[in-house]
Amino acid sequence: MDTLLTTSTKIHDENRQGEAFAPFALDTNPYKKLFYIESYGCAMNFADSEVVASILQNNGFGATKNYEQADLIFVNTCSIREKAEATVRKRLTEFRRLKKTNPGMLVGVLGCMAERLKAKFIEEEKLVDMVVGPDAYRTLPGLIAEAETGQKAVNVLLSRDETYADIAPIRLNSNGVNAFVSIMRGCNNMCSFCVVPFTRGRERSRDADSIINECTVLFNDGYREVTLLGQNVDSYHWVAAALASTNNTYEAAVTFAQLMEKVALISPLLRVRFSTSHPKDITDEVLFTMQRYDNICNYIHLPVQSGSSRVLQLMNRTYTREWYIAKFNRIRELLPDAGISTDMITGFCTETEEDHQESLSLMAYCKYDLAYMYFYSERPGTLAARRFKDDVPEEVKKRRLQEMVDLHRNNTLQSMQRDVGKTFKVLIEGFSKKTDNDLQGRNGQNKVVVFPRGNFKKGEYVFIHITSCTAGTLIGEPVANETILLAG
Ligand code: SAM
Ligand code: SF4
Ligand code: F3S
Repeated sequence: MDTLLTTSTKIHDENRQGEAFAPFALDTNPYKKLFYIESYGCAMNFADSEVVASILQNNGFGATKNYEQADLIFVNTCSIREKAEATVRKRLTEFRRLKKTNPGMLVGVLGCMAERLKAKFIEEEKLVDMVVGPDAYRTLPGLIAEAETGQKAVNVLLSRDETYADIAPIRLNSNGVNAFVSIMRGCNNMCSFCVVPFTRGRERSRDADSIINECTVLFNDGYREVTLLGQNVDSYHWVAAALASTNNTYEAAVTFAQLMEKVALISPLLRVRFSTSHPKDITDEVLFTMQRYDNICNYIHLPVQSGSSRVLQLMNRTYTREWYIAKFNRIRELLPDAGISTDMITGFCTETEEDHQESLSLMAYCKYDLAYMYFYSERPGTLAARRFKDDVPEEVKKRRLQEMVDLHRNNTLQSMQRDVGKTFKVLIEGFSKKTDNDLQGRNGQNKVVVFPRGNFKKGEYVFIHITSCTAGTLIGEPVANETILLAG
């Protein structure tokens, strides 16, 4: 999560690397200045960088993928764990060297670290010229102008209603098949370990019509998969402003299930994914909608964080172990083939060996297809930092994490092996990482599938019969040499 993110194909993937850029930067530069953006953190940050690129382009700036050419360098940052912030600080030291040879270059820090540290960032990192929080990107052109005069420019105001709904994001580093679409911003949940409510502000949902428009444009441009993004998508709730003051508000409200249905109806050839689902908010309505539409992918990211009810209470997750398992079982009952993934934290304040064993046993029970596991990192200002002592020694946190990773590795391998012999509909995303003789895509459950290239092309759907697997990849053969015309 706290890594540099470049491709738009997978959420939460560790070790994604590369720089975000738009393809229209020319050698003969017609723009007033060239900008370069690098994104760290979650998919929402990556989607925000696409909004930033759009705002800058509309104001006469051009994108470059080469930071040595850039007049403006932006780093879109993450604060979720201490390590995420350390990675950004290290990267800034590299830009500091560059600034010595190009003193006119301006450096801007965007995103969650900007919001958390505010003007303090400028005191701590002298090379930084601009500090811009996640709700202040529309003011970037003005802030750049201010920084050009030699002033340090800061805007970290959080908003109760900014959603950037009217901004058409520029797709950065895109494969032309998958795109992220933000449907809401902020979070109201106040999990005690989490910095997001402080860096992203109050939860607000984006106008449903603007989401449908964005997805329709993406489909018409050849994209075949959209991932609807929010910290807690199941609490999406939008009421048309014109009707909000009438008695008619109930009919005008759009729930997440209804939104997902509207997106699915754009075309049976457009796949729909979503992330993240807080277990307390995912409803039967969402699960029934997933059942009804083949093009809504059978995959749910359902972070549990701990298997101990006592720790879950301290985390303020608002559910117990038993409640989570009941929700998990309900998903299995209604969507037996669904891929389910999770997030886990080891070594949260006061966590005992017994609590840790409960986390392991929960993971053994759920046999997740995918799990993102972290050791607890205290974040300043959070409820946990204020209320509890970070009392599990780091070596214990890390040892518990390793035990969890080992257990999960076994689960994933078994999950992959269970798919050998099955046939899946796969959306082709491009060449396999190893050879251009093979293509790769993902099935509805979000597993990577590799198969011989034949005459197939990126953006097409094909049925693949799985013949073998590794721990991270299904390997197969097309069942017919023809592509198919429905998503799912
Ligand atoms: N909104 C999602 C949810 O409710 O589960 C999670 C979003 S958070 C950006 C991604 C993950 O980072 C969390 O699920 C949690 O496992 C992890 N995380 C958040 N704060 C953390 C912290 N202080 N230390 C370690 N991991 C943390
Ligand atoms: Fe953080 Fe909890 Fe909100 Fe997720 S739901 S972003 S973990 S506060
Ligand atoms: Fe990081 Fe902010 Fe996302 S803290 S995980 S970039 S919302």
